[in-house]
Amino acid sequence: MARDLAELPTCTRCALSLTRQRVVVGSGPMGPALMVIGEAPGRDEDEGGEPFIGRSGRLLFQLIAEEVGLSRQECFVTNVVKCRPPANRTPTRDELSTCRPWLSEQFQVVRAPLVLALGNTAARSVFGFEKGIGQTHGQIVQLGGGRGMATYHPAAALRGGPSVVEVMRADLRILKNLVVTP
Ligand code: URA
Ligand code: SF4
Repeated sequence: MARDLAELPTCTRCALSLTRQRVVVGSGPMGPALMVIGEAPGRDEDEGGEPFIGRSGRLLFQLIAEEVGLSRQECFVTNVVKCRPPANRTPTRDELSTCRPWLSEQFQVVRAPLVLALGNTAARSVFGFEKGIGQTHGQIVQLGGGRGMATYHPAAALRGGPSVVEVMRADLRILKNLVVTP
């Protein structure tokens, strides 16, 4: 059943609604060059109400600017799960499947020709990958009428250091070739 996106900011379909401060819906233009999809809001996002406004987000959009040539303002940015899991734990399978239809609604209205999923959880939820991100990053996949790719989550790069950043940069250089210029 289709959901009405007007109801997303007050959604209580899963238990994350009990511990969140706010639903982090997403931000950016309709018809963007790129749709960027993370896992779930962290503390900064839960407080600020926008995705990727903390440390991960700063690294992410630095890399996207340098390698893809797009600014944050040119991207629609969201997460597969819209409310912060307590202590930033990984969302459960139930939380993922309960929240996922919201993202499907967003795909319909945002209409991005290119989608980037960040990390294992988002890559599996968005593209249906069974293998882990170590094997799926950098692959180009067809998604609806557009195309998509997964790369590592910037939080993994913050933990893993320069070698992870280099892999992300290489993936993003492949992504750059897929940007549809109007
Ligand atoms: N990590 C995510 O996956 N999403 C955010 O919005 C912030 C951190
Ligand atoms: Fe609703 Fe998703 Fe938030 Fe759960 S995580 S309450 S399904 S918006």
